[in-house]
Amino acid sequence: MNKKIAVLSGDGIGPEVIAQAIKVLDAVAQKFNHTFEYTNALAGAIAIDKTGNPMPDETLQVCLEADAILFGAIGDPKFDNDPNAKVRPEQGLLKIRKEMGLFCNIRPVTTYDSLISKSPLKEERIKGADLVVYRELTGGIYFGEKGRKNDGVVAFDNCEYSVEEIERISKLAFEAAQTRRKKLTLVDKANVLETSRLWRDVVKKMAPSYADVEVDFLFVDNAAMQMIVKPTQFDVILTENMFGDIISDEASVITGSLGLLASASIGAKTAMFEPCHGSYPQAAGKNIANPAATILSAAMMLDYFKLFEEANLVREAVQDSIDKGLSTVDVNPENPQSTSAVGDLIAAYIAKAAVTV
Ligand code: IPM
Ligand code: MG
Repeated sequence: MNKKIAVLSGDGIGPEVIAQAIKVLDAVAQKFNHTFEYTNALAGAIAIDKTGNPMPDETLQVCLEADAILFGAIGDPKFDNDPNAKVRPEQGLLKIRKEMGLFCNIRPVTTYDSLISKSPLKEERIKGADLVVYRELTGGIYFGEKGRKNDGVVAFDNCEYSVEEIERISKLAFEAAQTRRKKLTLVDKANVLETSRLWRDVVKKMAPSYADVEVDFLFVDNAAMQMIVKPTQFDVILTENMFGDIISDEASVITGSLGLLASASIGAKTAMFEPCHGSYPQAAGKNIANPAATILSAAMMLDYFKLFEEANLVREAVQDSIDKGLSTVDVNPENPQSTSAVGDLIAAYIAKAAVTV
């Protein structure tokens, strides 16, 4: 198989973790006789520094011409600490989501037995937790009309959803539930918000077409609590943009390290794969960041290409490195490996694996 991959390494630890994911993809290509062609493009603070724009048109063009996008991280403290900054790296992320139509953000949360004691949550509560958040990514309050009025003393952010926007992500979430434990939980605030009531209407109407999936509904405040009290009750969580942003960060705590959480953002024509962690500027250039989240995101990309055996092998390799304690400092503070060493180990596992091509 021949695939073109746009690579947007971005800021902070982005380039270091992306380099490991590419190492692993190259090992997969070698092993299974595929060709992955990479095109690098600028995004984030580095793009602002070089072009004044966090998501230059040239980058969007590279993404449009690719089969998928591999994304590192964007963000730089020099912008965070300036409330008057007109351009921010994060705008680049929102722009690429919108321009590429990446409406469905998928964030799987699993536990690794060898890491369960790392979670700040009690072991008996999180053991066996295995859930995935389907977060709507191109609508809602993030993209509604926003502004100031009354001479700037009043601000507003509008939240809007259409039936079509809800249906297209719900379809993917229902289908995912069918391949998993067949439970879908819609997280909303239907006791207060009209948009949430529309989400409920749409999901209720779709449910009979997925008769094997049990559907339930939770208000977001309760869901936030349930996530900590009994995360094992969740299988697929379906939710709108803002609630998904919050609930997925909360859910990440279950895994034990944000450095392990991968994500996929699926659109009608293309898809983007990125670690859930940010640019972690304090670690940039130190070769200490955990590359697992990016490598696992690359595995999700392989799934998207329907290269399931390859994707599973990558996940197995990551699992093996974690089980053997061959991890970065966030996971193994006593005897940490460097970012590049973890990449090497995972690539070597793939190179050695016995597979029939
Ligand atoms: C995320 C991030 C982004 C979001 C920020 C960086 C704009 O928090 O991907 O979850 O809020 O969507
Ligand atoms: Mg977030």
